[in-house]
Amino acid sequence: MQIKNICCIGAGYVGGPTMAVIALKCPKIDITLVDANPEKIKAWNGPLENLPVYEPGLSEVITEVRNRNLFFSDDIKGAIEKSEMIFMAVNTPTKKEGKGAGMAADLRYVEACAKDIARYSKSDKIVIEKSTLPVRTAEKIKEILIQNSKGIDFQILSNPEFLAEGTAIQDLFKSDRVLIGGDETEKGIEAINALIEIYAKWIPKEKILTTNVWSSELAKLASNAMLAQRISSINSLSALCEKTGAKIDELSKAIGMDHRIGPYFLESSVGFGGSCFQKDILNLVYLCRYYGLEEAAEYWYNVIKINDYQKNRFAQKIIDHFGGDIKGKKIGVLGWSFKANTNDSRESPAIYVASKLLKEGAVLQIYDPKVEKERIFSDLKTLWDLSKYKSREIKNNLIRVKVFDDHIYAIEKTSVVAIITGWEIFKSYDWRKICRYKKVFDGVNILKNINSKNKVDL
Ligand code: NAD
Ligand code: UGA
Repeated sequence: MQIKNICCIGAGYVGGPTMAVIALKCPKIDITLVDANPEKIKAWNGPLENLPVYEPGLSEVITEVRNRNLFFSDDIKGAIEKSEMIFMAVNTPTKKEGKGAGMAADLRYVEACAKDIARYSKSDKIVIEKSTLPVRTAEKIKEILIQNSKGIDFQILSNPEFLAEGTAIQDLFKSDRVLIGGDETEKGIEAINALIEIYAKWIPKEKILTTNVWSSELAKLASNAMLAQRISSINSLSALCEKTGAKIDELSKAIGMDHRIGPYFLESSVGFGGSCFQKDILNLVYLCRYYGLEEAAEYWYNVIKINDYQKNRFAQKIIDHFGGDIKGKKIGVLGWSFKANTNDSRESPAIYVASKLLKEGAVLQIYDPKVEKERIFSDLKTLWDLSKYKSREIKNNLIRVKVFDDHIYAIEKTSVVAIITGWEIFKSYDWRKICRYKKVFDGVNILKNINSKNKVDL
């Protein structure tokens, strides 16, 4: 099947960069990226310095493809109608209410997409799950599509995305693998081949892996769980290092030099953040429980437990430094995004550390190179709303949050600094000097080469 028009529903951290790269590599295909949020579409069509997603290299790609063969639009109906292939890249957060609340993936946005596709399609479509979904979701999508269709053939493929934020463009250019799950029927194979043809424009064929739909859906959840599990493993060992005098960065290096283990994802930290690791593991735990696999569920749940423990341990160390009383104490917080090189702060450990310190009465002076002030306030407010804080309590806590646009002001008149995100620019500060006057709690191990009694490791 010749693909001339693609539609992608969901212009977020995945939809934006992914479609920009496909547009760059496939100049003969027109791609329309649509979103239910018109403000987002406006921002994608606006100035390059204010794109909704910050990613190194993204604005260069957008400059080349925007209005050439990549279009941002809020005309969902029109984009579906004219496309032969439709990607669904909408969010799949953890359910907040109903059956499976706090664990299962909330599939309402994916279901809404499927309904739109069924409603507006007038010709055969290849529908692609780009969002991360529980195994067997394709079945549900098929049910929706079949119910509403008028003799139209819908082929559903699973094509999970493995990019990491902060390196999205680089990851998309040089993917370790592209995974495509589809039906082993004639039409299914035809759909798989149409998608292979797109990726093969820049990804070597041997890196394009085809499986059945269920393996593909589950491989995505499992990959994230395995990555997060390595972080929780090393973080659990950082606690033991603290007690024994071993050094966690030396431990990571020694372990990672074993080629069977490898050096990646062994950096201890204040805990992993981001919109996916926690929600995908919770989803995996939910699936295990659903199928009655309690031991497997418990195993994966411990990855989350260690992550919570690590965030809490980091904040508690700061509280202990003040002898348990941090009321009115000024603390400089460097970094709010969940990792360097992104403006995304979803599930950032900064939110949990800050919340604990504020709850105990601290005054926080925060600096992040990319996360906006309003976002920092709304992250805290959202967490407290979810934890059922009273509005007076929220107001009293937020009064003690100051956000600065330079690290110098954020650490001014503080005796303690907490580094939460590993931004490259933080490494260039004069830490030897800072450590002379302040206690520095390094949550991302960027001061490993500094020797100072005022530096506190994980
Ligand atoms: P996001 O929140 O940044 O973007 C999702 C977008 O979908 C939003 O802009 C939202 O307005 C839009 N949307 C929701 N419902 C819609 C509908 N019915 N019609 C039109 N638009 C709709 O989310 P994201 O970070 O891009 O993640 C998307 C999916 O990709 C998730 O399943 C996530 O697990 C997965 N994923 C994310 C990453 C990542 O690094 N963020 C990496 C790999 C996979
Ligand atoms: C992760 C995966 O790496 C991607 O492959 C996947 O596509 C994506 O989730 C997803 O499904 O959303 P991302 O969350 O963007 O990507 O970023 P990572 O680089 O994986 O970092 C996640 C968190 O782990 C960050 O808070 C980071 O600081 C932390 N981390 C990472 C560590 O604490 N130690 C490490 O060694 C590596």
